[in-house]
Amino acid sequence: MTTAALPPFRTAVRHGGVGQVPLPHPDERHALRRIDWAATSSAAFYRSLEAALDPAPVSGRPDPLHNPYTPGAGRRPPELAGREIPLRRFDLLLDRVAHGRPDRSVLLTGPRGVGKTVLLDTFRSMASGRMWGTGGFETRPGHSLRRPIATAVHTALRELAPRHRAPERADHALGVLKSFVLASPAPAAGAGRGAVPRRRPVVDAVAVRGQADSGDLETDLADLFTAVASVATDLGVGICLLADELHDASHDDLSALCAACHRMARSGAPLVVVAAGLPDLPRALSTAKGYADRLFQHLGLGPLDRAATEHALVAPARARGVAFTPEALDELYRATGGHPFLVQSCGRAAWDLAEGATIRRADARAAVAEVKDEIGLHGDAPAPSRPASVAGAGRRPGTRHGPADSPPGAHTAS
Ligand SMILES: Nc1ncnc2c1ncn2[C@@H]1O[C@H](COP(=O)(O)OP(=O)(O)OP(=O)(O)O)[C@@H](O)[C@H]1O
Ligand SMILES: [Mg+2]
Repeated sequence: MTTAALPPFRTAVRHGGVGQVPLPHPDERHALRRIDWAATSSAAFYRSLEAALDPAPVSGRPDPLHNPYTPGAGRRPPELAGREIPLRRFDLLLDRVAHGRPDRSVLLTGPRGVGKTVLLDTFRSMASGRMWGTGGFETRPGHSLRRPIATAVHTALRELAPRHRAPERADHALGVLKSFVLASPAPAAGAGRGAVPRRRPVVDAVAVRGQADSGDLETDLADLFTAVASVATDLGVGICLLADELHDASHDDLSALCAACHRMARSGAPLVVVAAGLPDLPRALSTAKGYADRLFQHLGLGPLDRAATEHALVAPARARGVAFTPEALDELYRATGGHPFLVQSCGRAAWDLAEGATIRRADARAAVAEVKDEIGLHGDAPAPSRPASVAGAGRRPGTRHGPADSPPGAHTAS
């Protein structure tokens, strides 16, 4: 390392003697002067500290290049607002497994654009952070779960295998996975015409005969989960498989997945499935297996409440020296109903339209109009896979799911 990369130093006399401390940047010096070092209470001190750390307001219009909002599908928002309950629940689940007390799998449901995929990704990072093996997949209508699950399990095993002291144990699990992959039934004649054929995951292992190779998904999945969970048990961690859009799975595949999770629950194996889907998913699972509602802990996601909506809008802006007036926040909450996709969309538009460093009611109104326009809401025009209205968001036209199905914020359904 060259010394050119280091900050300039000065010699300073400190209580401990003479030493070198880095010179603060001029901006930091300015911030340090704003701290109330003589505050008579810790609350006053921290208030002044918070104020000092706020960046100086931007001069002129907010820079579109630094627009922090993230409308879209599965895009991690700058602030994951209002999801404290599911995050706490999942953290507890990880803790319980770490203490040898595996918990139920997790079902995340909610209308379109409410933040299921973002939360799945966050759960995955949390599990990876605890050194778990993780793998995710997205269900596609008309396609078996066998291959996506195989790919997810493969990813999870590849994360764990190098850490295993007995390579033959990990190789055995890979061999069971290979059998599972090879047992994929050949597509029926004429089936899937026009669809892009899906590649089998390439598993570099010798298939273990007699395990996970019956061709019956229910039997094979249970064998596969048992084999991979044993690798995690050896390492004192868990396996977390994350299934998105699970409402698209067939009745038989849901039944097989429930049966495999049931087997894990009965044996106390540390393999957890986190399944996300539209609000009808719990009913589809219960129809597939009568015990499904006791198999999963259900976290229903709804729109953000008022405080969380404000946090989602204000925190990323404040970090960049931009503020909202209370009237602008009123307008945005009223128009979006706290629907996360719309909050991000309107936040983004308001930032781009603002005339100055403070986003005002007029900017918010213009932003809402622009978003309405952008998502094609002219009268009754359909807006496929988009929320049905900026005021009553979260519903796909033709479905009955909407924010009205779920209370604000996340609630635990079981
Ligand atoms: N907690 C949150 N706070 C703020 N914004 C969020 C939050 N969760 C999600 N978002 C934003 O909402 C939008 C939709 O998120 P996501 O794609 O995860 O929804 P979804 O429920 O998976 O939708 P779909 O059912 O269509 O797949 C994204 O723009 C994302 O950045
Ligand atoms: Mg999604």
